[in-house]
Amino acid sequence: MHTPLLFLSLLSIGAGAVPTYGLGTTSGWDSAYTKAQTALAKLSQDEKAGIVTGMTWEGGPCVGNTYAANSIGYPSLCLQDSPLGIRFANPVTAFPAGINAGATWDRSLLYARGAAMGAEAKGLGVHVQLGPVAGPLGKNPDGGRNWEGFSVDPYLSGVGMEETIRGMQNSGVQACAKHWLGNEQEVYRDTISSNMADRETHELYVWPFMNAVRADVASVMCSYNKVNGTWACESDELLNELMKNELGFRGYIMSDWNAQHTGVNSALAGLDMTMPGSDFNTPRGSIFWGSNLVEAVSNGSVPQSRLDNMVTRILAAWYLVDQDQGYPEVAFSSWNGGKAKVNVTAGHASVARAVARDSIILLKNEGKILPLGRPGSLAIIGQDAIVNPGGPNACSDRGCDNGTLAMGWGSGTADFPYLVGPLEAIQKQADQHGTKIVTSTTDDFTAGAQAAAAAETAIVFINADSGEGYITVEGNAGDRNNLDPWHNGNTLVQSVAAANKNVIVVVHSVGPVILETILAQPSVKGIIWAGLPGQESGNALTDILFGTTSPSGKLPYTIARQRADYGAGWINAQSDPFSEGIFVDYRHFDEQGIEPRYEFGYGLSYTRFNHTGLSVSVFTTSGPAVGSVVSGGPVELFEPVGSITVQLVNSGSVEGAEVAQLYIGLPDSAPPSPPKQLRGFQKVKLQPGQAGTATFELTRRDISYWDTPTQKWVVPGGTFKVYVGASSRDIRQQGSFVVGKY
Ligand SMILES: *[C@@H]1O[C@H](CO)[C@@H](O)[C@H](O)[C@H]1NC(C)=O
Ligand SMILES: *[C@@H]1O[C@H](CO)[C@@H](O)[C@H](O)[C@H]1NC(C)=O
Ligand SMILES: *[C@@H]1O[C@H](CO)[C@@H](O)[C@H](O)[C@H]1NC(C)=O
Ligand SMILES: *[C@@H]1O[C@H](CO)[C@@H](O)[C@H](O)[C@H]1NC(C)=O
Ligand SMILES: *[C@@H]1O[C@H](CO)[C@@H](O)[C@H](O)[C@H]1NC(C)=O
Repeated sequence: MHTPLLFLSLLSIGAGAVPTYGLGTTSGWDSAYTKAQTALAKLSQDEKAGIVTGMTWEGGPCVGNTYAANSIGYPSLCLQDSPLGIRFANPVTAFPAGINAGATWDRSLLYARGAAMGAEAKGLGVHVQLGPVAGPLGKNPDGGRNWEGFSVDPYLSGVGMEETIRGMQNSGVQACAKHWLGNEQEVYRDTISSNMADRETHELYVWPFMNAVRADVASVMCSYNKVNGTWACESDELLNELMKNELGFRGYIMSDWNAQHTGVNSALAGLDMTMPGSDFNTPRGSIFWGSNLVEAVSNGSVPQSRLDNMVTRILAAWYLVDQDQGYPEVAFSSWNGGKAKVNVTAGHASVARAVARDSIILLKNEGKILPLGRPGSLAIIGQDAIVNPGGPNACSDRGCDNGTLAMGWGSGTADFPYLVGPLEAIQKQADQHGTKIVTSTTDDFTAGAQAAAAAETAIVFINADSGEGYITVEGNAGDRNNLDPWHNGNTLVQSVAAANKNVIVVVHSVGPVILETILAQPSVKGIIWAGLPGQESGNALTDILFGTTSPSGKLPYTIARQRADYGAGWINAQSDPFSEGIFVDYRHFDEQGIEPRYEFGYGLSYTRFNHTGLSVSVFTTSGPAVGSVVSGGPVELFEPVGSITVQLVNSGSVEGAEVAQLYIGLPDSAPPSPPKQLRGFQKVKLQPGQAGTATFELTRRDISYWDTPTQKWVVPGGTFKVYVGASSRDIRQQGSFVVGKY
């Protein structure tokens, strides 16, 4: 699973030469390109245009389909949503959302989830699964689609991208890193211009895509929005320059669905595939590529070499993951209920459960109210405790907030094969323990208080939903109107807390929720953040509630005391100046000295961990990263510069897992930078009394900033600060290292 960090055996291109595409990190791309070039020579011009053009919406069984090229045995490619499972098909596994996968901070689970999704995609004949997501990154805490990605922190997001892509592609499906770039809100997403300065572009938004390219991602999707006034899907700067030349991406760039606005300009800017064929365009039905692309080549407005390059990239990605070696036929249709001819779910429910369980974050545990042990009676309160009586798929694309929340809404969803609701799973445990359960499974305050008064402990379920802007749910047009719990969740908790002294609140949420009203209730002793857990929701929750497993999730974003503290949010305007710059989420709280409620990286456990014996061993010289471009960027950027280790001891009484986190502060010689930036983490599972080592391997990229004047990643000279701890603010060990001038 781990890639060697050095690729010095690669050919280097002469100084000053601009590569037309990067040299891959593996020989995989080289041999794939050789095969693609051989195949290209056999194709007619119409076949070439067909390979790069979608067959229009509903023109094939998948959400995107391209034309087959019979002369080379190349199929009609099936491109299908989503980043958490295969959309419009059943049965499939409805995995926890990306944000939960990120909250595990567990590389092996991120990989396992990717591998299981990829296996289902392949089994169903899906050639390209449209995920994972690093854009939105989540700079706006209320952004509607943040939950599809892993974290607002680019390093954690990057690890999520890399592990997921490796898992998916090792299973045989082509992954698609999306959305490129600056797609941070839903409101006006089809017209808004993200005006991003160069430094935040690189250090925040491009960063996780560098990991994706390093993981040899087959494809990238350009986004709906504009960047600096130019449509992302026809931006030479974004596609040719940044993605292909600077990051050395050798796969292909497809448009988001109808994000293509011109035929010739998009081709010249570096777009390689149009999805779903652009037939939604004005006038409706107009198609930019297909025969128009053939025409554009013959009249000289698009060079033949550009069309050949598009085709070569697409074919190479197909060869890269061995899809020429006999690939299953498409076994479902998106347009007739999605019933699949095969059952691909295998044992993947256990992966879904493990991710859901290990992403649960224990925010508060006063007087050790958790784990529950064997209470005599429990009140289970709120409609979020049960599955929607209409069924978990009652609302198309999950576009309603009825019953327990286990994924957001929009195209980033899949149908649940089943959904284990919290009450159902808790009841099962209670039956074994002889615990009496009283319930109130609506959001009615009075009924909730009555149930709470009749039990020793009350568990209240609340949620907050969001999704893609083509559906408005309870007045939220994709992005959230506020960061409060939905359905008057604060009032529900208040009335329960007035009736019972032992209250636990479970939050199912797409992102941060302001918890101040809830925390002001002395009866609220425990708070559990369960995110968007997917089909195994209830089972994962009971693993934590009853202490079968100690919680080990850590916040992938900051929970503030008030919405305004974030200093960012979606805007009701046609251009976003990205005025927060590089200071998003904890970078902003740290910089401004704002006290968060629960900081980035925070999460409690049923046991305790000591972090001791920090050892720092970093040796390098200051200056820019140079060298030939490999997949991800200049080769030097990925060279190891040393490692940092810390000893962990489980000093409590139960087994548990700690996420040791490394944050780096750049020296004063760097331009003004965040006080701390995540640059390593490791999750270590330990028995009581057991010790272990967390090791953080650093590359040059981890200690660099983007230097806009020179357009290079630069390691500044001076003293770097090293912080290791249990969160971005619970720092247990500090150290430093010095980088001198070369
Ligand atoms: C957008 O404009 C800013 C300010 O001029 C510049 O720094 C940045 O590189 C531009 N980004 C792109 C992708 O063109
Ligand atoms: C060439 O053909 C394309 C596609 O039909 C068209 O959009 C473009 O205007 C044409 N250019 C010239 C110079 O004729
Ligand atoms: C699909 O397979 C899984 C795992 O073997 C099984 O639990 C499930 O019942 C099957 N679903 C259907 C619809 O056959
Ligand atoms: C969702 O809940 C609303 C409000 O109670 C109700 O009107 C609607 O019918 C429900 N929809 C489904 C599909 O359950
Ligand atoms: C862990 O830290 C606590 C508090 O600093 C200390 O009392 C305890 O002895 C430490 N335990 C171990 C095993 O290092």
